[in-house]
Amino acid sequence: NNYWVIVPAAGSGKRMGADKPKQYLPLNGKSLIAHTLENVRQWPGVKGVVVAIAVDDTEFKTLHCAQDPRIHTVTGGAERADSVLAALNYLSERQPAQTPVLVHDAARPLVNTDDIQKLLAASPIALLAQPASDTVKQSRECEDKSIVQQTLPRAQIWLAQTPQKAPLGLLREVLQKGLQENPAAITDEASALELAGHSPELVAACRSNFKVTHPADLILAEALINYRASESNSGSKL
Ligand code: CTP
Ligand code: MG
Repeated sequence: NNYWVIVPAAGSGKRMGADKPKQYLPLNGKSLIAHTLENVRQWPGVKGVVVAIAVDDTEFKTLHCAQDPRIHTVTGGAERADSVLAALNYLSERQPAQTPVLVHDAARPLVNTDDIQKLLAASPIALLAQPASDTVKQSRECEDKSIVQQTLPRAQIWLAQTPQKAPLGLLREVLQKGLQENPAAITDEASALELAGHSPELVAACRSNFKVTHPADLILAEALINYRASESNSGSKL
């Protein structure tokens, strides 16, 4: 279990609409990214972490966890995949190609350690995901409206989350190729692996592994952090 973690944290948080990137918004007195990195640091067997930060980021180095010698930084890129690739390039100069890598969004502070254990025990190419709880409609545009094209069979619908796991060398190769050939299709690591013919294993994650994206997600994350912090709930799977 000697794996590395890549944390893309170079986004601007447009959907959050705050006055700074969402990873630096405070949650119970600590920034969102600090919560995520403190969680990542206690995953079993993690050897090191590469965080991709924006080129104009001045805040990362002020974080307490930035002092951890296991935490490295690289400059991210225009899209999430570019940020991940920058971290993969950095890592591939330092670690063997077969090193397992887990890519985890800075904006998912609440992933459960039990789910990390399940992901580590799964196939070499695997990701955490959420079985859909709502019925999923595929749409098409008709004049100025969106209308239902079809209802997708819900039992087979999963929403991709992170971490997503793959060997370092393979992930770098498929991401590079995917970005050259079909950048719009590369919205996560798994999509690049799928384009290259792989079939990632889906590992069901707890609801708490949502991505802090919109303002209401901040309030929910804060409530869950408080809930977990209280002694009586420390063993909770929530
Ligand atoms: N990310 C990144 N580099 C980018 C874009 C995103 O490292 N060029 C990171 C974000 O910082 C975040 C993760 O990828 O931790 C998931 O992306 P998302 O939730 O979409 O964050 P943002 O792109 O910042 O938000 P938005 O899409 O609302 O602008
Ligand atoms: Mg984004």
